[in-house]
Amino acid sequence: MATINEHFLKLRAGYLFPEVSRRVRAYQEKNPKAKIISLGIGDVTQPLPPAIIKAMKKAVDEMGNKATFHGYGPERGYDFLIDAIIENDYKSRGVDLDRSEVFVSDGAKCDTGNILDIFGLDNVVAITDPSYPVYVDSNVMAGRTGEANTKGQYKKIVYMPCTAENGFIPALPKSHVDIVFLCFPNNPTGAVATKKILSKWVDFAYKRQAILLFDAAYEAFITDPKIPHSIYEIEGAKDVAIEFRSFSKTAGFTGVRCAFTVVPKQLKAKGPRGKAVKVNPLWSRRHSTKFNGASYISQASAAAVYTDEGKEQCRKIIKIYMRNANLIHSSLARLGYQVYGGKNAPYIWLKTLSNMSSWNFFDRLLQNANVVGTPGEGFGPAGQGYFRLTAFATPENVKEAMGRFAGI
Ligand code: MLT
Repeated sequence: MATINEHFLKLRAGYLFPEVSRRVRAYQEKNPKAKIISLGIGDVTQPLPPAIIKAMKKAVDEMGNKATFHGYGPERGYDFLIDAIIENDYKSRGVDLDRSEVFVSDGAKCDTGNILDIFGLDNVVAITDPSYPVYVDSNVMAGRTGEANTKGQYKKIVYMPCTAENGFIPALPKSHVDIVFLCFPNNPTGAVATKKILSKWVDFAYKRQAILLFDAAYEAFITDPKIPHSIYEIEGAKDVAIEFRSFSKTAGFTGVRCAFTVVPKQLKAKGPRGKAVKVNPLWSRRHSTKFNGASYISQASAAAVYTDEGKEQCRKIIKIYMRNANLIHSSLARLGYQVYGGKNAPYIWLKTLSNMSSWNFFDRLLQNANVVGTPGEGFGPAGQGYFRLTAFATPENVKEAMGRFAGI
């Protein structure tokens, strides 16, 4: 009989968002008339902007024509998209990248999990608590952790608590670590990192010979011009960091799928006999072996994000979501909640009422207000007693949900 990867058995409960959906479905079945509003999973609700639809339709037409049809594309992505990314997302911020350093994919979720394939199982990984669950679960699946304790923390992972006391910014680990996951603007807390904070991390990684896995999927939501959008805005970061970006929230691509990862050519990690080995060719090898590239249609659509029209239209949509964030933040603060995030990020992180557990608060909100959020505990033990709301619902639903909050 075939055997399984036993590390999967260490995983606690189901993946967070399917578990939330399961509970919502069960409630809806029992209460078919309930008009449930979801501020749970960060899924966008505004349709794709016209410039992107135009590019997408053109790409579809090209696929139907013998002369312009595209089969397999380059695994790393089409140059037309890579060039637009380099020019607009990096050069404009003083960062020079080479085409070979950008890898287009179908999602930052997959990339933040898959990147671990190229790193040894003996690496000590540091992860913030709370964090996007993919970082922890992917390491568990790979066998880089021990069992979970009763709090839900896995042995061998170095947890970096993010609390109201430290402003949800993790302290530098005191113990040995090799790989550090960072996410700014943060999912789930909505915290952002200044240049000073990111510089500390880059210095730390340099001194400790560690690698930073920097998830910048929400950079488009930064409104404060002093907050860096990319880790590479920090001097020396190309020696120590990999960056993940996504079109999902920036341009409404959650259902289209397109993202990219930057792996600098100069980034190195320890190979056999302690020799430093370049990481970029390893990721290139992994990417081209297990992935055949994002579809031509997705990439042609993503390139339209960088046209003048596309930029303007995406900015307008982001403004809608940020107005939602603002409304959620101010409404909850008025109701007496301790509220965080939502200023340079589409997530609002709040303390539950009367220290209620996150899942109890979830149930109370679902039952009394028919509003869905995400229990903070699902992002890690330090999220216990907290709750996450997203700003990605429609403005009408956000307004209605805030009215219902008053009555719980
Ligand atoms: C979230 O709600 O945390 C995100 O939408 C999940 C994801 O991007 O995979």
